[in-house]
Amino acid sequence: MKNTFQLYHKSSYILEDIENNSIDALITDPPYGISYQGNYWDKDLPDRKVWEQGFEKLKSGSFGLVFSSIRLMHRLMVDLEDSGFLIKDVLFWAYLNGMPKSRNVGLSIDKELGVESEKIGEYKYVQGYKKEGAESYKASKKEKLAPSSELGKKYDGAGLGIKPSYEPIILIQKPLEKGLNVAQNIIKYGTGALNFEETRIPYKEGESKVGHNPHEKGRVPANIIRTEPFEDGYDKFFLVPKVRQHKDDFNFHPTLKPVELMQHLVKLITFEGQTVLDTFMGSGSTGVACMELKRKFVGYELDENYIEIAKRRIETSISTPKLF
Ligand SMILES: C[S@@+](CC[C@H](N)C(=O)[O-])C[C@H]1O[C@@H](n2cnc3c(N)ncnc32)[C@H](O)[C@@H]1O
Repeated sequence: MKNTFQLYHKSSYILEDIENNSIDALITDPPYGISYQGNYWDKDLPDRKVWEQGFEKLKSGSFGLVFSSIRLMHRLMVDLEDSGFLIKDVLFWAYLNGMPKSRNVGLSIDKELGVESEKIGEYKYVQGYKKEGAESYKASKKEKLAPSSELGKKYDGAGLGIKPSYEPIILIQKPLEKGLNVAQNIIKYGTGALNFEETRIPYKEGESKVGHNPHEKGRVPANIIRTEPFEDGYDKFFLVPKVRQHKDDFNFHPTLKPVELMQHLVKLITFEGQTVLDTFMGSGSTGVACMELKRKFVGYELDENYIEIAKRRIETSISTPKLF
């Protein structure tokens, strides 16, 4: 690869530009198949082809991290497994501040019965998370209603979905080369182990170290990644806040992932100098993390608007690296 990164504006269902057994890790955030916010590219889960192709491109023993949705994770896992990968773990990115998508069933019952619900006030409705005062801020007044029918009152406040507070990230591995043990595989390919040295969770000052053989640098990273610390005095998880869509900052990708989170994931499954493939790059958050951590990057993205954003972000990150 001439550059430290290579971006392709094409579908990742055919990865003919990449040599077989040349990639050290797959980190990607594919369409979830849930039509999130009506995005045209999120209608279906990706075709299994992409995982079969990815499997060919990865070196034996390589790890992958694939974001998923709670509702369709099981299907994605079957596709990954059927493409040859081992399912090693599921990381939970617990971002806690998700919005429940639901409605007051009591009001639906009133409507079904042809009964007019009672108006009990007004509320301010803001679409998305726009800040008051920002140019794009638009608030409208909506009526606050309460059920009027007997049955409607009984079901007042009942809903259809609980608050989504985490996103699963599937940890996969291409099996070691047949006949090789981990050490032999690493000697041959450089792949087969997770990188704890760069991802340990440091002990709090004064905290007594736990375990039989505590490591100076801290704990082995956990499979929970949180956005806020626990309130019991210490936190043994990696912390990363969720990001809002940066409309003002030229990046309007609707499912942008925090670079800080991507850095943690890149560090966890690769070592310096290795190459990461992202088959659904979006605005390039994985690529930015790779540049900042001295990893090489190959990204695929179908939408021409997103690939332009990714190129700009990745180029900028090379000149102004930001380490978390
Ligand atoms: C969930 S988004 C990734 C967002 C990314 N994590 C970020 O931080 O910006 C998935 C992306 O996959 C792209 N995509 C969908 N199908 C594709 C395909 N067959 N090949 C390449 N990209 C595809 C979509 O355009 C979308 O931008």
